[in-house]
Parts: sequence; structure tokens; C-alpha cells
Amino acid sequence: MALGVLTSGGDAPGMNAAVHAVARVAAGRGVHVLGVERGYQGLIDGRFRELTRQAPGGLTPTREVELSANLGGSFLGTARCKAFYEAEGRAVAAAAMKERLDGLVVIGGNGSLTGAHALATEHGCQVVGIPASIDHDIGCTGTAIGVDSALNTIVEACDRISDTARSHRRAFVVEVMGRQSGYLCMAGSVAAGADAALFREQGRTEESIVEDVAALIRRAFSDDRGKQRVLILKAEGVEIPCTKLVRLVTEAIGDELGDVSIRATVLGHLVRGGNPSFLDRMVANRFGHAAVRAILDGKTDVMTAWQSPVPGGEKTVDHGVTLFTIEHVLRETAALLDGSSPVTKGRVALMEAAAGVLAL
Ligand code: F6P
Repeated sequence: MALGVLTSGGDAPGMNAAVHAVARVAAGRGVHVLGVERGYQGLIDGRFRELTRQAPGGLTPTREVELSANLGGSFLGTARCKAFYEAEGRAVAAAAMKERLDGLVVIGGNGSLTGAHALATEHGCQVVGIPASIDHDIGCTGTAIGVDSALNTIVEACDRISDTARSHRRAFVVEVMGRQSGYLCMAGSVAAGADAALFREQGRTEESIVEDVAALIRRAFSDDRGKQRVLILKAEGVEIPCTKLVRLVTEAIGDELGDVSIRATVLGHLVRGGNPSFLDRMVANRFGHAAVRAILDGKTDVMTAWQSPVPGGEKTVDHGVTLFTIEHVLRETAALLDGSSPVTKGRVALMEAAAGVLAL
């Protein structure tokens, strides 16, 4: 039997740890593992590479898998594959899969899971998904691979920015990734001790954002408050660019605050890189284990979920991991992104409750 594994969509710290876990758990059960290069594009192009090898005691992960296990990024390569959006591309991928693999583990986000669901429903391929996306924008799971590492990077970056901000008595607007989901901004702002968080789910107009940020900075730097720095986190999904926001706020404040200045920093892809945190390694390993077990149990079109915030799903031998049908996950993901999910409502309500406290 041969099991395939691929990483797809935006890379996330911990993807390599999940691949390592899949190779190790499968090897331990005598199952050979092939890595598919660059996501679904590699399936279409038939680019496979051995991730397990025969050793004296039985199968074992290759040296490459072992050396990459604790590194960020994806050593297999990842891609957002345009050809896979077309039925023709998926048919080629399914044929390649059936020729070489008995089952496939797909590690990725919303688009990758949509692809996995299509392979299972349109072509009867055996596929199990593992959620990986720094944005925490996948339904049914309490975390996804990469979220914790990204937050650690954000917090560290904000601490560094705060050092220089305090020294100059400055305000900073820091933009973090999250095109559709503002979770990194929400959680990061609380952990970094920021004064405010701006995220798409608030649904605010440009005007009201500028007005509020200007008022916040005026208040913070007024003589009787004596604050040394103002830190505002903004999610990528809030359309106003960081530099424009800073310009408009600076204009709104005018020379009321003397030499206090406002700066912008866009963290961008910095947040996606770096070695995975303990939590991401642990979750990745447990997802990898559960995914291989699910494949060997004959399950398909399901995703591993971590301490699910929604009811349902199927228990596994791991108390932290539940299996949800990918169909359920995709429905919940759509609700998470359009704001109708109780999970999104809960996140926003919590941030509204925190807003007054953050600004103190
Ligand atoms: O992985 C998700 C994400 O980080 C989004 O937050 C961001 O908008 C996007 O990826 C950036 O993607 P790319 O690497 O293609 O620029």
C-alpha cells in the first residue's frame, strides 16, 4: 500500500511536522509514503517523491523528512493550483493518484480542502484533510497548523516595535496577515497589549476608523495620561492601506500633539515564516497520526479537527482530535468567513467587550 501526502495553499509553520508524522505513523504500520510536490500541481504533473525507505528494522522516514520536521515552510513545496479548479485538471490528478496511491492526506486551508472534497466526491479517491492556515479561517477546528506560530511571531514583532515606539513616544499601526479572517489581529492585539484592533469583521467605514484612531492617539498622548506608546493592530482584510491610514490620522490630528508622530509597519509574509511553535508541532503530530489512522480505517472525505468549537464530528483514539466530514467543514468555513457562524460572532463580541479595556 502507498499513501500520498501533499501541502497546498499558503504555507504554514508546522506543515513539515505533519508530513513527518504521516510518514512516521504510516511507516510504523508498514505503509509506504510518497510526497506529492507543490500541492495539486504535483498530482497533475505526476511529481512524487519517496518519504519512507526500507531500513533494517522495517520502513522509516527518509533523511529529508527527518531534517525538515522542525523547520517552517513546506519542504514538499506548496501552490495554489489554477488547473485544479477545472474539472479536466482534477480528472488528470485523480488518474495519477489512482495509479500511484491508495489514499491521500491533504494539508492546507479552505481551497485545499475544497479540492480534497472534489477528489473524493467526483472521483471516489480516498482523501483525508489536515487543517493548516495561519489565518485560523477553517471551520470546525479549535486551531489550524500555523496559527500559534504566526501569533508568536506577531507578538514578538509587536514587542520589538513597542521598544522603539516607547523610546520616541510614537504611535504605530501594525498590519498583520488575514485577508478574510481577522483572527490574527484580534488575538495578537490582546497578547501584545495593543491599544486597539481593526479587523474586517467590524464592518467599519474608512471615515469612522480614521476618526476613532485619531481620537485614541489624542487621548493616549494627552498630557495627563502620559502614555509612552500607542500600538494599533490592523488586519490585512481592512481595506484602507496602512500608510494611507497613518497619513489620514496624522492630518486629522494636525499639530495638536506637538512632535508625536505616527508610523506604519506591514508585517506581511514575515508572519508565515519561522520554525513552528511547540503547540503547532504537537497539533501537527496528532493530526498526522489521526489522518493516517483514518485512512487505514477506510475513512474518506473527512478532516481532522482540534478541540472543535462546534458540536458533532466523530471521536478518534486521540481525545483532542475529532473527524468532521469535509462537507461540514466547508459549510462551517463559509459561515466563519461571512460572519454568520457563532464562532465569528463570539470572536467579534469578545473583541467588542475588550475594546474599552485595550484603550486604557
Ligand atoms: O495563508 C493565508 C494568507 O496568509 C492570507 O492571510 C494572505 O492574504 C495570503 O495568505 C497571502 O498569500 P500569498 O502568499 O499568495 O501572497
